[in-house]
Amino acid sequence: MKTVLSGIQPSGQLTLGNYIGAMKNFVKLQHDYQCNFMVVDLHAITVPQEPEALREQSESVAALFIAAGIDPNKSNVYLQSHVPPHAELGWLLTTLTSMGELERMTQFKDKAEGKDSVGAGLFVYPSLMAADILVYNADLVPVGDDQKQHLELTRDLASRFNHRYGEYFTIPEAYYPEVGARIMSLDDASKKMSKSNPNPGSHITLLDPPDVIRKKVSRATTDSGSEVRYDPKTKPEISNLMSIYSQCAGVPIKDVQAKFEGVMYGGFKKAVAESIIGVLEPLQKSYEEIRQSGQIHDILAQGAERALEVATRTVDDVKERMGFLPRKC
Ligand code: TYM
Repeated sequence: MKTVLSGIQPSGQLTLGNYIGAMKNFVKLQHDYQCNFMVVDLHAITVPQEPEALREQSESVAALFIAAGIDPNKSNVYLQSHVPPHAELGWLLTTLTSMGELERMTQFKDKAEGKDSVGAGLFVYPSLMAADILVYNADLVPVGDDQKQHLELTRDLASRFNHRYGEYFTIPEAYYPEVGARIMSLDDASKKMSKSNPNPGSHITLLDPPDVIRKKVSRATTDSGSEVRYDPKTKPEISNLMSIYSQCAGVPIKDVQAKFEGVMYGGFKKAVAESIIGVLEPLQKSYEEIRQSGQIHDILAQGAERALEVATRTVDDVKERMGFLPRKC
């Protein structure tokens, strides 16, 4: 069975962008692949985190995975920090990564922009991400398209290792949603929807109540026209709302245009909000039940135990190939 790996940072409330770009595909792929879905807490600390908030967010993201429909008996759901081989392989791969490659990462440039001091962890972030993927020899990595460059670096590092130390790593493929691989901000369609945007009106979080969702969508920026037409170049705001509707209502994008022909933006926005609520209301109900039951700790322990087995084997193999002396037990 082929392997899937992906992760989400517990660095704030997850957004509808995280759901459409990544989580929705996690749920879809779990039936046909051996899946590993991680809360990447080691990545989250590449920017400062309050310890209590990090603990709460980590548990919350894990519960959202389950609430979204991931079956923890089929897939491994766990925290990155509970599986130490990630960090170990991360270091080994950092030594194969060049400064130039890391300097070219647009996500690093964006996050470092305007800062007086930038942590070295933020710089080597992509090598740890490569380790996350390669430690399971993952075939497929479901992500939004902002992760494209990181995926390309992962593929390069896998090839580089194979070339230097003999064929070992699978070269992973990214898996993007057909529509919504980059959901944009509600207040500015030139920026991606992000949990780190300080304007709450720019993004919908997975735990926003229905009335908040209605308000945010009704206030979303639109052009001055009145035609619901998919054209990301000239109508980026409406096209973004159409992508959201397509993914939440399960209507192919080509049919969305026909469905809303002659409907004003106000009416269309109402339908968009209800389609989001249709997805998030049951997810939120299930989230509350999972949090209250306290079962998440057992799920995470079971997921980490299974993941650790595979990851430990990979790191042992990699170290042997790189020339480390084995430890005598
Ligand atoms: P993170 O936590 O920023 O985002 C998690 C996932 O959500 C996707 N995403 C979006 N998709 C569409 N539209 C958006 N506006 C949007 N915002 C976020 C992201 O593309 C991502 O798939 N580096 C990763 C975490 C990571 C990882 C990994 C992912 C660490 N190790 C190994 C895959 C495999 C990140 O920062 O994701």
